[in-house]
Amino acid sequence: MRIGILNCGGDCPGLNAVIHGVVGAADQLGWEVIGFRDGFEGLLPPGDFTMLRPQDTIGIVKQGGTILGTTNKGHFAAKVGEGDIAEVPPETVARAKRTMDQLEISALIIVGGDGSLTTGLQLYREGWPIIGVPKTIDNDLSATAMTFGFDSAITTVVDGLDRLHTTGASHKRVMVLEVMGRHAGWIALWGGMAGAADVVLLPEIPFDLQKVADFIKKRDALSYHSTLVVVAEGAKMPEGGLVTVDDNHGGEVRLGGIGEQVARRLSELTGKDTRATILGHLQRGGAPTSLDRILGQRFGVMAVSLARDGMFGRMVSYQAYHVDSVPIEEAVSQLRLVTPESEMVKAARAVGICLGD
Ligand code: F6P
Repeated sequence: MRIGILNCGGDCPGLNAVIHGVVGAADQLGWEVIGFRDGFEGLLPPGDFTMLRPQDTIGIVKQGGTILGTTNKGHFAAKVGEGDIAEVPPETVARAKRTMDQLEISALIIVGGDGSLTTGLQLYREGWPIIGVPKTIDNDLSATAMTFGFDSAITTVVDGLDRLHTTGASHKRVMVLEVMGRHAGWIALWGGMAGAADVVLLPEIPFDLQKVADFIKKRDALSYHSTLVVVAEGAKMPEGGLVTVDDNHGGEVRLGGIGEQVARRLSELTGKDTRATILGHLQRGGAPTSLDRILGQRFGVMAVSLARDGMFGRMVSYQAYHVDSVPIEEAVSQLRLVTPESEMVKAARAVGICLGD
């Protein structure tokens, strides 16, 4: 038996741990593993791939990025915008299938987010032996309580906030940190709460900057002269909506810049000195945390179990400390967003975090 693995979309700390898990578990079954480079692109003839033996994955668990390379562009992009699904053209699917057949791949493990798994679902429906592994630092995939990479991302947010805290306090400034999260505010909410932010602005909860300014003034009156604000890149400015740096990025807009706008507005409304920092791809790079190293390996091992049992069309899923699986379509039907009435949001409010509403 020979199985294939590819990762697609943005990279994510823990991808190499998944590869290590897949290769180790497959080896125990006496199977070969082929890793395709740069996502689905590696499937296009003549094929860009490498054999992955256990000795090829020694030491990669602790490495960020992915040894296979990845892309969020190319011939297989299934989602070109929010809710805008494009099918992969039949001729592209047929060309990729030739590589699968020539290499006699009997299961293809796709480690990806919403877009890559949507492609995976199309291929599965066309008869491919697909198994999905959820991947996104944004943690916005349905049908899994957590994806690997998220913990590493929020650890970077917390480190950033800890640093902004000391400089902000020294200068009595309002420090705004813009974090990732295209559609969902999980990184902002978890990172903000763990990093003791005072204000957290999310895509899911419309905010009013006058309310945030009043909150900052109240803190000033109580002698808390510095305020830490976390804003998700996908949050919408009350007047103006999403803030983008580039509207023509292969179909998906590139978000960025809301931190600067929030900082400028808060300075006008409070008269305080404000500074903005964009954490950006620091959240995606670097070594995975212990949790992501373990989750990644467990996901990889579960993907091989699914292949062994012929459970194609399923995605590995993490639920209540247990790794299991669900149909891929459950994961891609809709994004998992922060629910304003959830216990987590209530807890954030209870500890005094202002959500701007
Ligand atoms: O979806 C993950 C993510 O990190 C988003 O949070 C962010 O908007 C996007 O990827 C950035 O993508 P790129 O690496 O193409 O700039």
